[in-house]
Amino acid sequence: MLQGREILIGVSGGIAAYKTAALVSRLVQAGAGVSVIMTRSATQLVAPKTFEALTGRRVRWKLFGPGSHPHLDSANQAELLCIAPATANVLAKAAWGLADDLLSTVLLAFEGPVILAPAMNERMWKKPSVQRNVRQLEQDGFLLIGPEQGYLSCGMVGMGRMADPERIYALIEKTLADRAPPPPLGQK
Ligand SMILES: Cc1cc2nc3c(=O)[nH]c(=O)nc-3n(C[C@H](O)[C@H](O)[C@H](O)COP(=O)(O)O)c2cc1C
Repeated sequence: MLQGREILIGVSGGIAAYKTAALVSRLVQAGAGVSVIMTRSATQLVAPKTFEALTGRRVRWKLFGPGSHPHLDSANQAELLCIAPATANVLAKAAWGLADDLLSTVLLAFEGPVILAPAMNERMWKKPSVQRNVRQLEQDGFLLIGPEQGYLSCGMVGMGRMADPERIYALIEKTLADRAPPPPLGQK
């Protein structure tokens, strides 16, 4: 079902970033074209090379990197953007429209459906400011999945675990199934 569909995966600086490799691999195996943008924090947790090896594409994290308008190029190419994990910081930036790095700038420039998979420590998740941002994001039409209850990397058991990559995959598939693929280049 995902054969030939173009998906952009954003990876922000949560420890669950290692699980996003499984999601990306699943999408690639389903025939999707997958590009990955990481935040600088995310590159501290998982090597960009992991995603480059899985996608066969260059991973981007610099706003002022190669290309004339990398934020617009990335936003124009994709049919769907999924940020997994989405940190508390990314949720706040998305809710407020901040654009101070490549991922948040692409998010503002992107017109298609956006899936956010929050993941964080339970105390962070329950903070009124985070919950306020989540409500705002839902109102704004973002598709939120998770977090789930379970073991957290800090050793606690609680709410904050990133949704299982299989669930995120299923939501990506369902979201794209409801939308026709774009016409081939030159026929827009
Ligand atoms: C080991 C480690 C794990 C972290 N895990 C999370 C996490 O799961 N969720 C989260 O919101 N922040 C987490 N943080 C904090 C973020 O990395 C930090 O807020 C950072 O500024 C987020 O930047 P980004 O949103 O640009 O990726 C973690 C930090 C460290 C050092």
